Amino acid sequence: MILLDGKIASQSVKDELLLQVKKLKEEHKRVPHLAAILVGNNGASETYVASKVKNCSEIGFRSSLIRFDSDVNEDELLTAIIKLNNDEAIDGILVQLPLPKHISEQKVIETISPTKDVDGFHPINAGKLVQGFPVFVPATPYGVMLMLEHFNIDTQGKNAVVIGRSNIVGRPMSVLLSGNHKYGNCTVTICHSHTKNLEEICSQADILVSAIGNPGMIKANMVKQGAVIIDVGITRVDDATAVKGFRIKGDVDFNDVATKASALTPVPGGVGLMTIAGLLKNTMKAYLNK
Ligand code: GUN
Repeated sequence: MILLDGKIASQSVKDELLLQVKKLKEEHKRVPHLAAILVGNNGASETYVASKVKNCSEIGFRSSLIRFDSDVNEDELLTAIIKLNNDEAIDGILVQLPLPKHISEQKVIETISPTKDVDGFHPINAGKLVQGFPVFVPATPYGVMLMLEHFNIDTQGKNAVVIGRSNIVGRPMSVLLSGNHKYGNCTVTICHSHTKNLEEICSQADILVSAIGNPGMIKANMVKQGAVIIDVGITRVDDATAVKGFRIKGDVDFNDVATKASALTPVPGGVGLMTIAGLLKNTMKAYLNK
């Protein structure tokens, strides 16, 4: 079985970006600049945003973290986004989701300029992705595609099953896998909470992408012999023996599924790292598009 190691694949993306940034610096040009907005202090969001900022600095990008209390009003947040839209020094903007209930995520997403929308969540970018003209591909499915590319996984004509239909992962993932390109051309089935016979459908998948957020739910009996398994689940599970009091678990029961899979992503150390790689590539793209 091949371990689809996100550390290796994401480092290769970052090495490429590092070289590009080095060249920009040699030419005395400014470097890409990402602005990240974090509302409140959700533990997982804090970790994700901190990691995004850290990775920017590792490859020589600039980043600005803009924080708001969880009771910030919607107008104040939208005004901050508009200011970033108009700021020539900023290339990419992301607002970490989820947001507090009193703020409309849709309004926030639609306020980010599509040219700076490095998460690829704006309906204009989502529409372009569906039509095969992507500008910014949402970072997690983009990261999965970069992972498939790094390990040269053959996808042509394969049966792919995606579990989850969110705008952040499942839906764009299904579009990418079915697209007419080298790491696409799959026959894609999307499963969700109303899917009947989930086990039977999954066990026909040559490529299975799970984005459910239900730790350890995917067992060997749901997996075809020799399948490629991509685990997008990142759930914090209480564990008193862990230093932080929790552990990160994926959707896939790794040891069980490893007995049948031909390739498998670990959690942690798999798709999570690729999400960052996707975001960094999008930020470079936003810079180059200017
Ligand atoms: N929350 C979970 N995943 C993401 C992501 O890729 N981008 C943003 N902005 N928020 C998220």
